[in-house]
Amino acid sequence: MVDVDSFVPEAIDEIGDEIGDENAVIALSGGVDSSVAAALAYEAVGAQLTPVYVDTGLMRKGETDQIRETFDYMESLRIVDAKDRFLSKLSGVTDPEAKRAVIGEQFIREFEREAKSADADYLVQGTIYPDRIESEGGIKSHHNVGGLPDVVDFDGIVEPVRDLYKDEVREVARHLDLDELVAERMPFPGPGLAVRVIGEVTEEKLDVAREACHVVEDELEEYDPWQALAAVIGKATGVKGDNRVHGWVVSVRSVESRDGMTARAQEIDWETLQRIQSRITGANENVARVVYDVTHKPPATIEYE
Ligand code: XMP
Repeated sequence: MVDVDSFVPEAIDEIGDEIGDENAVIALSGGVDSSVAAALAYEAVGAQLTPVYVDTGLMRKGETDQIRETFDYMESLRIVDAKDRFLSKLSGVTDPEAKRAVIGEQFIREFEREAKSADADYLVQGTIYPDRIESEGGIKSHHNVGGLPDVVDFDGIVEPVRDLYKDEVREVARHLDLDELVAERMPFPGPGLAVRVIGEVTEEKLDVAREACHVVEDELEEYDPWQALAAVIGKATGVKGDNRVHGWVVSVRSVESRDGMTARAQEIDWETLQRIQSRITGANENVARVVYDVTHKPPATIEYE
């Protein structure tokens, strides 16, 4: 386990040495990794760092407001509303890796514009150890590894948490007094809710997934999962009044893990599962059924795409 008391000042010194008097930019994702990297870098170089948060429209409920509040102290913070641009680019795209590619590309475009206008020489990234391993193994394209460094001709890449595991990053977050919600926040994939709706991304499916993810995170907090999520996985028949209707199927998943590379589905009590079901179907009349996923990783992945 990392010794935070020595890690934090050393990381800040190192970032300061690397960036010097130049400007730097970081993409804030809302997750703990980039939040910690940004907080360390801001300690090191202050407003020479421009943190950029791109609201893709694929974020969790309330996430953008929370970012605004948490990082309000960083005077150089930029929040970009790019929802319409992302959704229009995603229209008609159904393949999971194609969705990732579209999101990655659009993200780069948004970020490039901001990095240029911030006149940034350095790129700070919240890459952690398991990201590097999975990317090297070609398991999934993580858009926080690769991509961004090629955008602008940066003088250097700074990755202050590159050797840490997620639980170590959280410890650093607590040490830095980052908002409890950010420090304890579950990992959330770069492509956001787009990989929690199977097939084409539509606003309707996103709304179902966003509310369902919120319910699941809220109800399962006491189980302390590595990740708890909900995904819109298809359509099935339900009944409303006297009529048969074709509505959304929402799958609920809650897993334990240390690093996301393997995971175990959690055993959840029936009452909690029923409460989740009732809140999700109650929030959206077009949800026909809610199922619970009991599959470990492997053979399943944690996300649905
Ligand atoms: P899987 O679904 O591969 O997820 O078992 C392992 C961990 O990685 C996250 N994940 C992603 N993170 N870009 C990301 O930044 C992605 O494309 C992506 N896909 C999955 C997932 O949420 C889990 O924590």
